[in-house]
Amino acid sequence: MSRIRTAGLIKKKQKGEKITALTAYDATFAKLIAACDVDVMLVGDSLGMVLQGLDSTLPVTTDDVAYHTRCVRTGAPDAFVIADMPFMTYPEPFSACEHAAELMRAGANMVKLEGDEWLVPTVEALTRQGIPVCAHLGLLPQSVNVLGGYKIQGREAEAADRLIASAQALEKAGAQLLVVECIPAALGKRVSQALTIPVIGIGAGADTDGQILVMHDMLGLNADYLPKFTKNFLAGRDSLEAAFRAYVDEVKAGTFPGPEHTFE
Ligand code: KIV
Ligand code: NA
Repeated sequence: MSRIRTAGLIKKKQKGEKITALTAYDATFAKLIAACDVDVMLVGDSLGMVLQGLDSTLPVTTDDVAYHTRCVRTGAPDAFVIADMPFMTYPEPFSACEHAAELMRAGANMVKLEGDEWLVPTVEALTRQGIPVCAHLGLLPQSVNVLGGYKIQGREAEAADRLIASAQALEKAGAQLLVVECIPAALGKRVSQALTIPVIGIGAGADTDGQILVMHDMLGLNADYLPKFTKNFLAGRDSLEAAFRAYVDEVKAGTFPGPEHTFE
């Protein structure tokens, strides 16, 4: 069982200590990331892009995420590991529970789902069955074809208010963690203040309770495209360990993300 549980993450939020998170997909990196004191590892469906070379997360399956979750769990037996529920595995609560069970059996401590209020019954069902849930709001990559691209979300006042209401509804339903992606920094701050559960941001400014990045992006491996909100932590350093430690240090110090990585 992992050392850090959700109670530990809430304690960090209450103390104002930043939570550090990275994606991980295999045993070797999971072991190294754990040794660098990263609080949370996410087996993201971003594996469709960074491992499978696809241009979206849509083709990723539960078997894919379960396989990589097993690898991560083997490499980091004590880590707090979240596994992404893939596209179309949670259209309603029952199928969500079946797919989430696969990920829990593979070694996940929590599953993550993309969506707003429509997920309330699903979050309730998963939690009731003993499966902790991380909600995901803002830019939802599984909905890229509806959103019309990977674009910043929650810019207009009405959309921002809607995101806050969704976050509160999901927390009330039992979600124990929230990821917010690609939203203005002011909204990242607002949603973090509005919730008791920790809010982990990616492209959501420096004032969320924690930060997460895709490992390949923060090592500068995704040479074709580096999103504005990420940073190459390997640049100017001579080891992967130094890069991971620099990320942890900068997130904890509040120096990453800086204004240049932030949407206003
Ligand atoms: O799949 C992923 O890597 C994610 C993070 C970007 C939060 O969902
Ligand atoms: Na994801």
